[in-house]
Amino acid sequence: MFKQHFGLKFNPFDKEIPTDKLYESRDLKELDSRLKYMLDNRGICLIVGEPGSGKSTGLRKFYETMSRSLYKPCYLPLTTLTVKEFYQALASLLGETPAYKKVTLFQQIQSSISNLYFEKRITPVIIVDEIHMAPTSVLDDLRVIFNFKVDSANPFVLILSGQPSIRSKLSLNSCYPLRQRITMRYSMQGLTPEETASYCTSRMKLAGCTREVFTPAALAAIHTTSGGFPRSINNVALTALMYSTAHKLDMVDEEAVYQANVETGV
Ligand SMILES: Nc1ncnc2c1ncn2[C@@H]1O[C@H](COP(=O)(O)OP(=O)(O)O)[C@@H](O)[C@H]1O
Ligand SMILES: [Mg+2]
Repeated sequence: MFKQHFGLKFNPFDKEIPTDKLYESRDLKELDSRLKYMLDNRGICLIVGEPGSGKSTGLRKFYETMSRSLYKPCYLPLTTLTVKEFYQALASLLGETPAYKKVTLFQQIQSSISNLYFEKRITPVIIVDEIHMAPTSVLDDLRVIFNFKVDSANPFVLILSGQPSIRSKLSLNSCYPLRQRITMRYSMQGLTPEETASYCTSRMKLAGCTREVFTPAALAAIHTTSGGFPRSINNVALTALMYSTAHKLDMVDEEAVYQANVETGV
């Protein structure tokens, strides 16, 4: 209904976006340049951000665009895996047949990383997403697995990404050795008010809308309501489009943004 009402070919605020169509926010650019730095310098990196701030999306872009002749990317989300499955998935992504015993698994992972880097000249890039879900024991294990004798030549890139609660986990004494080895950090800031506005209008254009739909006050309201985090912006903007359609309004104004989101409790 709302697509027809606003002359849209598809939902402009759909969450499935091809990586080449992503909005180039300051966050996305900063994240990208830090991740590229990691490819050249290796070691451990920590990405922190509120839910829906665009961490996984930025990592997906990084994953997709990485040269496969120089790097071996392994993406592991902790949400869908148990601890054991996590180590097994890592071993098999690295090309091993995962062993049953944890000690053997760890050795497999380590030797696979060494082999890739020192023999094949391919740097393993291991991305652990949703790291805030990890029990402290896993953080401790990571330190063990990613401790190579020749520390000056880290034969890997390890990217840990998660919600802000990871900071307090890492500040525990037991996590000190891991924390100390993190050489790069980035904290997602969310979109600025200007970025939120240009994001919304560019999405509408991309979806085929040929006129201005959101008033400047509506765009400001979307920013305030969403905190500038892309997932919330999508929800708030979409709800406002639906609200305006239901009320037969040509434009989305500030009132529509607030009313729509009060009604749906976004
Ligand atoms: N740069 C971007 N351009 C367009 N949409 C984005 C961008 N970053 C995030 N999004 C949208 O926001 C949603 C949430 O982002 P996600 O990466 O899953 O957040 P996080 O991993 O921080 O929880 C994504 O599904 C995507 O639709
Ligand atoms: Mg995520």
